[in-house]
Amino acid sequence: MNKIILQFSALGLFLATSALQDNNLEASKIRGEKLYTGLCQGCHKPDGSGYTKNKLSPPLAGSDYLLKNKENGIQAVLFGLKGKVIVNDVEYDRAMPPVKWTDQELSDVLNYVRNTWGNKASFISPEEIAEAREKKQETDK
Ligand code: HEC
Repeated sequence: MNKIILQFSALGLFLATSALQDNNLEASKIRGEKLYTGLCQGCHKPDGSGYTKNKLSPPLAGSDYLLKNKENGIQAVLFGLKGKVIVNDVEYDRAMPPVKWTDQELSDVLNYVRNTWGNKASFISPEEIAEAREKKQETDK
């Protein structure tokens, strides 16, 4: 009897944590949208399509660069990006300044851009931002 109860509570816990993960992404995206509107959309457009005509800024919507791994997006917002970057087979050679926000804010804005406009990618936690920040400080020493 006790064993059955234990199994049920383990299942309950499993379901609860799965639901929490989804909630995390949804809640993070809602916060991220506000941050995106406040800063990023000025350069990447409200619909994330970028100012591609004169190659002023690359798109985030459908960006293979942003979606192929977590690291590209994390590095771009944490430390800025300059020099040549290829997004969907098009070369951009401009500069984006680093975004001086908290780990939480950077994870929120990345979760928003990686999961909006048809984009779909894995959740990025504030801890992952913190790790990348620390790693850079180590190598800069
Ligand atoms: C001042 C303009 C500007 C702002 C503000 C800006 N970006 Fe960028 N962003 C750029 C430019 C220009 C590049 C390309 C840099 C290069 O050519 O090396 C870029 C590149 C990127 C890339 C990598 C390339 C791609 O398209 O996948 C990502 C991801 C990105 N930006 C996300 C963001 C996010 C998220 C914000 C807001 C937190 C933001 N940017 C704010 C101008 C900007």
